Amino acid sequence: MKVFNQIQAYAKRPEIYEEGSMKLWEDPHISKGMLEAHLSPDEEGASREHSFIDSSVDWIESIAPPNTHPNLIDFGCGPGMYTSRLAKKGYNVVGIDISKRSIAYAKDYAILNDLTIDYRVGNYLEFNDVEKYDVAILIYCDYGVLSDEARLKILNNIHRALKLGGKLIFDVFTPRKYVGIKEIKEWYISGENGFFKRDEHLCLKSHLIYNEFVHLDQYLLIDQKDQVDVIRVWDHCFTPETLLHETAQVGFECLGYFSDAKGMLYEESSKTLCMILEK
Ligand SMILES: C[S@@+](CC[C@H](N)C(=O)[O-])C[C@H]1O[C@@H](n2cnc3c(N)ncnc32)[C@H](O)[C@@H]1O
Repeated sequence: MKVFNQIQAYAKRPEIYEEGSMKLWEDPHISKGMLEAHLSPDEEGASREHSFIDSSVDWIESIAPPNTHPNLIDFGCGPGMYTSRLAKKGYNVVGIDISKRSIAYAKDYAILNDLTIDYRVGNYLEFNDVEKYDVAILIYCDYGVLSDEARLKILNNIHRALKLGGKLIFDVFTPRKYVGIKEIKEWYISGENGFFKRDEHLCLKSHLIYNEFVHLDQYLLIDQKDQVDVIRVWDHCFTPETLLHETAQVGFECLGYFSDAKGMLYEESSKTLCMILEK
């Protein structure tokens, strides 16, 4: 197909949750930049600021201490920002992530720091452990990037993996994140070694609003060899009520919700929402 026609096809508003042609977390080039972002202490691109993670881990420990909740699993653990800290607190930790690069880094870090952590490269949508864990975490608003169907799938997978009384701690964005944000279409030419591609390319970027709760950031990339790719980052945001409704379908009970994953009191103005659920 001609480049123009490919761009024309991708430039149409996609169906809700339609996937892009490139995988944000698995692409060999993008995963390098992602790893750097995870490890950068003050950047909020892939993980939160490291000072936030320190407080978050203390908060998780206060909710589900390792003496009563010894077995913990981190869904989408990345290079181990949470898992390493939680292992140091005394939990038996499993970390699963789809990024080979992140898991390779996490494994090396664990060896160097004498930490025993069970790291697995895998898709959490296909996770099928049964009643093994006391705590599950899914942190930095990863739940909201999933389609309606995939969210139900991961909730069921986590529910199955938890023991009775086990807890899930996870966060999402709220519609407050998007107050004042409008649809945009803009473009730039990325130099060599850009975030999405190694070679120079044109990026047509758009932010599309589907409804109050569903937003899309789309990056249409055209390189010098006329290769056209598209990256789509969906975000489904939630109020406490919509999240309670969704999670109750799977049989979880809500123990409480907060403004963020370090236990700040929930306020109407919060841009994030962190919920604790119990099986
Ligand atoms: C926003 S990052 C958050 C990482 C980590 N939770 C943190 O806060 O540092 C999302 C992570 O989820 C992983 N991920 C995305 N989709 C996944 C999937 N289907 N299965 C497993 N991991 C996935 C990505 O590779 C990435 O490491």
